[in-house]
Amino acid sequence: MMDILDVMKERRSIRKYQDKQICREDLEKIIEAGLYAPNAGGGQRARIVAVHNKELTDKIGRLNMKCFDRSKLAGGYVSSEQPSVIDNPDIKSGFYGAPAVCIIFCARNFLYSIPDAFCCAENMVLEAANLGIASCIIARGEETFDNEVGKELLKEWGIPDTDIARCFVILGYTKYKEMIRLSAKAEKVPDIEQRKWIDIIFEEQPYLSNVYPGNTREIGIVFCIKNAEIEYFNLGVRPIFRERYVIGNADITEKGYDISQNCIGCGKCMTNCPQRCIVSGKPYQITQEHCLHCGNCYEKCPVGAVKRRESSK
Ligand SMILES: Cc1cc2nc3c(=O)[nH]c(=O)nc-3n(C[C@H](O)[C@H](O)[C@H](O)COP(=O)(O)O)c2cc1C
Ligand code: SF4
Ligand code: SF4
Repeated sequence: MMDILDVMKERRSIRKYQDKQICREDLEKIIEAGLYAPNAGGGQRARIVAVHNKELTDKIGRLNMKCFDRSKLAGGYVSSEQPSVIDNPDIKSGFYGAPAVCIIFCARNFLYSIPDAFCCAENMVLEAANLGIASCIIARGEETFDNEVGKELLKEWGIPDTDIARCFVILGYTKYKEMIRLSAKAEKVPDIEQRKWIDIIFEEQPYLSNVYPGNTREIGIVFCIKNAEIEYFNLGVRPIFRERYVIGNADITEKGYDISQNCIGCGKCMTNCPQRCIVSGKPYQITQEHCLHCGNCYEKCPVGAVKRRESSK
């Protein structure tokens, strides 16, 4: 099991999925996490309908996209790596090809119905990340079912009129095998240089002119990162590969696990390591660049010889 803060930092909203379905056991764990979310007054009003079927998930995803009203956008751009429906008007399904979706319903007339549903969704995406399953919270629950096809589905699922869909958690396996995480503090570029940098950014990324035509580009504020820590992951190779780099004077945050001299050489960590990245010796050693940080070795070691690495900060 990963450290909860690591799960929070490593979770990302994923918008490109493999067709491969997640297993029922994982789906049930994710639902369980949702049901343990804090909820207003302890009323436990949320209900979750899980669709464990790619065809039906796609069908609901298209209904979700149909009700997406571009004219109501508050502006903004989400991701160039994983474009959202805001970034790419050609996307046909609001669920991005995910093979499963959980729909979170809550009491229609309850004041805290929306926060309850999203607390539930947050618990679910964290558990999904913990299980290595990709996810994304999706809005427009209400509008998605406000049509003949949607109403038919609600009837089929036995959802009473007193409940309303508030949001979705889409689930699956990421198509992304390589990821980069940058941790840094961004500083605002001086006002006098803002326009120059905005023009450079628009020149480098021409698609931005679609999102902010003409002078509307001035709405942007440019920030600069001078010191940063970068983590690169490649999950498409076996064993997985990770590496860290530094820009400027950033500190390196030590993460993962080390094996101490208390190791008695029983080999349990090695047998239980999903990446086979522990080598025998005195003590046994973890090949850090291949380690998933899953914590299995830490949990299985009978003498507590596996230690969490401390930050050097
Ligand atoms: C309330 C809420 C509604 C969201 N709705 C959508 C959505 O409809 N479509 C989508 O692609 N992402 C949606 N997201 C995901 C956000 O775009 C995403 O969390 C954000 O870009 C930050 O990226 P990260 O989750 O990878 O940190 C939603 C997130 C939240 C919290
Ligand atoms: S499980 Fe613990 S004691 Fe056994 S080899 Fe691994 S680190 Fe050493
Ligand atoms: S060494 Fe293996 S078992 Fe231990 S945290 Fe890394 S991947 Fe997991």
